[in-house]
Amino acid sequence: MNNYIESLQWRYATKKFDASKKISEEDLNALKEVIRLSASSYGLQPYKVLIIENDDIRKQLQPVSWGQSQIVDASHLIIFCNEINVNDDLIDNYLENVSNTRGVAIEELKDYGDFMKSKITPLTSDAKINWAAKQTYIALGNLLSAAAQLKIDTCPIEGFEPDKYDEILGLKEQGLKSTVAAAIGYRSSEDKTQFFAKVRKSTQELFNTI
Ligand SMILES: Cc1cc2nc3c(=O)[nH]c(=O)nc-3n(C[C@H](O)[C@H](O)[C@H](O)COP(=O)(O)O)c2cc1C
Repeated sequence: MNNYIESLQWRYATKKFDASKKISEEDLNALKEVIRLSASSYGLQPYKVLIIENDDIRKQLQPVSWGQSQIVDASHLIIFCNEINVNDDLIDNYLENVSNTRGVAIEELKDYGDFMKSKITPLTSDAKINWAAKQTYIALGNLLSAAAQLKIDTCPIEGFEPDKYDEILGLKEQGLKSTVAAAIGYRSSEDKTQFFAKVRKSTQELFNTI
């Protein structure tokens, strides 16, 4: 646990990446697995994760990301996208996966499927998208923490225009909407932010034990 907390103290939202340093394939695969294993509501994983290596695309994304340098300088840019169509298909696909993975007959999962559908189907379209978008932040959080354990720097990024991202990446056609991003790589020695003290609420202020 000490190591974990030390990693969280070590990490910071990196403002300037060393553009010459790339994450190894092994580390990238480990981080992909961390994202894949992330928990989600009902286990539905109503999202897709884009890993952007292409320099041209990143150059297009930078001006619609508040001009932030992390977009082009980091080793990789990860974009979390939620599913727009949160419907019965999403649930049925999940049930099929459960059936195949656990060797359970699909009929045995019908009640659980109906339960999920009864909770999700009545939601408004906006509420569905909002629910799906929230799930991506769990994966983002896991990514930040796991990367820190590997001494890989990250910057979570909400400072971008989602509609422009969707347009540049053709996401709407794929039934997706960009929610949040993360630049991952290695800090530049010139990034002064790395020396700033962490600013957090005190334990007393943050927690209420009832
Ligand atoms: C969802 C989310 C979005 C963020 N968006 C940006 C961003 O667009 N640009 C940026 O430089 N930092 C961004 N941050 C970083 C926060 O400002 C930073 O995490 C916070 O100030 C705490 O500092 P620390 O992460 O360095 O400990 C974001 C953080 C989160 C969690």
